[in-house]
Parts: sequence; structure tokens; C-alpha cells
Amino acid sequence: MSKLKASAIAPSNIAFSKYWGKIDDELTLPLNDSISMTLDTIFTHTTVEFGPQYAKNEVWLSDSKTKATLAKDQKQARVLQQLKRLRRLAGVKDFAKVVSHNNFPTGAGIASSASGFSALTAACLAALNIQVDKKQQSILTRLAGSGSATRSVYGGFVKWHQGKNSESSYAEQLYDQDHWDLANIILVTESAAKKHSSLIGHARSKSSPFMVARLKAVLQHNQDLETALKSKDFQLLGQVIEQEMFSLHAVTMTSQPPILYWNGTTVEILHEVRKLRDQGLESYATLDAGPNVHLITESSNIKKLQKHFSDFVGVKQIFVCKVGKGVKITKQHLF
Ligand code: ADP
Ligand code: DP6
Repeated sequence: MSKLKASAIAPSNIAFSKYWGKIDDELTLPLNDSISMTLDTIFTHTTVEFGPQYAKNEVWLSDSKTKATLAKDQKQARVLQQLKRLRRLAGVKDFAKVVSHNNFPTGAGIASSASGFSALTAACLAALNIQVDKKQQSILTRLAGSGSATRSVYGGFVKWHQGKNSESSYAEQLYDQDHWDLANIILVTESAAKKHSSLIGHARSKSSPFMVARLKAVLQHNQDLETALKSKDFQLLGQVIEQEMFSLHAVTMTSQPPILYWNGTTVEILHEVRKLRDQGLESYATLDAGPNVHLITESSNIKKLQKHFSDFVGVKQIFVCKVGKGVKITKQHLF
């Protein structure tokens, strides 16, 4: 019996400038460029095996809170589409078994879709022995439907070019993981999956009257982020990161119907981060589509911030991440 099996490990990433809204849903073409930092300690491990022993595709998902369960309906829809796309590319007819584990909570605004779809795509490519360069891999990853996953192909600091069509919408590394010793301290205020997925948020973004202003602002934000990354200007970087976060959430809050991703603790933390900055402890806050706060700081501040927030009311868990490497294959069996 032939065996086409591979495993991959893919990092999550935190967006400094945010992907929010699409020009093309089918191709996952975004409305703007986005820039992120790849994370080292939160990731997805995925194994994919194609073979005649499977009468249909099986997708098993688990995370830091839940045991492996067979995914159904919406939870497996994008995975099945990606299996079909890549099987077809390889000319393989067999179905597959996918077993995937996130070492952090899923669907809570910690970008499980980024690491999840990056790991899935890499494992499928290896199992099917499809050889592509990183740029093509980022394009194939994007086609899975999770935009943030496009950036998790690379380590370090990454830019996803909006592009005009599928071939020109890809991610590239701006700087590798050794460029700047930054950290992302994730303050978990809610680990349950959010009510409104990013998928819903993207679709609603165009209904916000603020979206036009956001799309104009993000052009300048991306330029400033590139300047800040190049010159390692932490204050500039942090200011733009916060502007971006508020701009994204202003859009979600003014979409029709509105989406409020924040909870009370989210707001308390945003005030606390300002207070600490005034006292000389510098970090900047960002949030994806969820209530969990990502503090971006220089690594020398990790211990103080971690200690400060460890007994902060409403903070349930803390993840500390530094700048990580991109997706990698951990096992491949082709025979
Ligand atoms: P998050 O903030 O965690 O990225 P999203 O709502 O953006 O939340 O994405 C969650 C989506 O990603 C869900 O559809 C979930 O089923 C899918 N997902 C999460 N982890 C994986 C994984 N390891 N493999 C495949 N799909 C995953
Ligand atoms: C707010 O399309 O990557 O994190 O639809 O769940 O796959 P899914 O998420 P995705 O949207 C990410 C939105 C964001 C901003 C970002 O990471 O750029």
C-alpha cells in the first residue's frame, strides 16, 4: 500500500497592521497589505496521510483545552477544500486523514487559523511531494481561505502584499527572527471561542462607514511600520501598532450589525498599558478579532510585564512569545 504522509509545525503570528476585509472571497484577496511578527511558542502541529484506506476525508482537531474530536460542517469546510485543491494539483485521488493540534486556545483571537492553515498546507505539500518555493507556498496557503496563514509560512517579520490577482498576493519575509529581540505577551481574558469568527468580521467590514478612512490610514501605517522595523524605532512601531488596532476595532464596532470583540478586562488592560508606559515600562497593545490582548514589547521588559499582569483581575492565562521561525516539516514518508 502506498503511503503519503507528512507532519508540519507552523507558528502563529501577530499582525502589526491588520488584514480586515477582502476584495475577493473565493481567492482570499485582501483590501490592504499587512505586516506581522511570527511567534515562537504558540503553534499548530499537523499530520496528513493520504491513502486508499480512507473512504472519505477525516479531520481531527484538538487544542490546549480540548481533546481530539472529529471536525464537522463549518469547522472542516476550509480544510476539505484545501485537501481537494492540493490533491488535484498532485494528481492524487486518495482521501486523507488530518490530525491537528493547537498548543493554545482555538478561535479566541490568538490566530489559530494562521498556524492551523499554514501547517495543513505545508503537511499536504510534503505528503503529496509537491515542491514549490516559499512564495508559491504562501499563495497556496492563502487559497485555503485564512489570510493570516499566508504570513505564517515565514519566520521573523513578514509582509503580505495585497496584490491584484492570485499570483501577486503573496507574503515575503522583511527581516528574519534575529533582526530585533521583540516579544509578544498574550494576556488571555477569554479562552472560549468567540461568537463572531473573523470570517464574519471580514464580510461585515464594508458595511462600516469608517472602512474608507481605515483603508487610507493603513497605507501610511504600513510605511511607518517598515520604517520602524528598519531603524528599530520601538516607540514609532508601538504607536502605529496601537493605531492599527483601534482602527480595526472601530470598523468592527461600526459594522452592520456591529461586532464588539472586547470584554471588560480588555478595556482595563488597555488603560493599564498606558499607565505603565507613563511610569516608564514600555509596551503597546494590539488585539486581533477577539478579547485577548497582545502586548508588544522589547524582550528586556518581559519579566516585569509578566509579573505585573500575573495577578491582574480577569487575566486567565499568559503566553510569552518571542520572534519565531516559519513553518517546517517535521516528518515525511513517501513510499
Ligand atoms: P482565531 O482567532 O483563533 O484565528 P478565527 O475565527 O480567526 O479564530 O479562526 C478559527 C478557524 O480556524 C475555525 O474555523 C477553526 O476551525 C479553524 N482552525 C483553527 N485551528 C485549526 C487547525 N489546527 N486546523 C484546521 N483548522 C483550524
Ligand atoms: C484580525 O482570515 O486570517 O487577525 O478567517 O479565521 O481564517 P480566519 O482569519 P483570517 O483573519 C485575520 C484577521 C486578524 C488580522 C490579521 O491577522 O491580519
